[in-house]
Amino acid sequence: MIIGIAGGSGSGKTTFTNAIKEMFKEDVLIIRHDDYYKDHSNLSFEEKKHINYDHPDALETNLLVEHVKQLKDGQPIEKPLYDFSTHDRKGSEMIFPKKIIILEGILILESKALRNLIDIKVYVDAASDERILRRILRDTKKRGRTLEDICDQYLKTVRPMHEKYVEPTRKYADIIINGGMNKMALELIRTKIESVLQEEV
Ligand code: CTP
Repeated sequence: MIIGIAGGSGSGKTTFTNAIKEMFKEDVLIIRHDDYYKDHSNLSFEEKKHINYDHPDALETNLLVEHVKQLKDGQPIEKPLYDFSTHDRKGSEMIFPKKIIILEGILILESKALRNLIDIKVYVDAASDERILRRILRDTKKRGRTLEDICDQYLKTVRPMHEKYVEPTRKYADIIINGGMNKMALELIRTKIESVLQEEV
């Protein structure tokens, strides 16, 4: 069963994803679209800083589509790994299929080919002020960014791309939730997953 979790940067996708993982533990495999950012190791750090990482073309989505198909067929994949501090790929890891696969990322519902593989589509919604505040805290603590760079990137690419490519994917969602810690939505997803897992037995 494939669950897609989309929503703007800083909306709470990771919180919601981790809560599902916590419920079904080893039955759940989380695949982040972020790991499929294209490699730019040929560019200087300054050049890499100015890439538009919120445009669909920044991601190797066709590789993710292939990987999801392989996992559905019961085959392992060699998933790329991504380093946000350097903006580069840092190798790959072997991933084996599990009963529940969660695909998480701002643009996970943007590609039709990917949408067609997803059984439950979720869009995590949050006010833009909450999202930018969360992003500032995360990017300074975990992604080695300065406040100035975060503000510059937000105004130049994150906000316009959100309006153009991320927000319009709400219409594809089966469930739209408010923030990542939404207990009722989690219960609905739990019931649905349990029924699908029982069908398989
Ligand atoms: N990004 C970046 N630098 C890169 C690659 C991506 O700053 N080299 C940013 C993009 O600008 C994009 C964001 O990473 O907006 C996507 O991650 P985000 O959705 O913010 O993080 P998650 O933890 O997946 O989601 P959430 O905050 O909702 O939990």
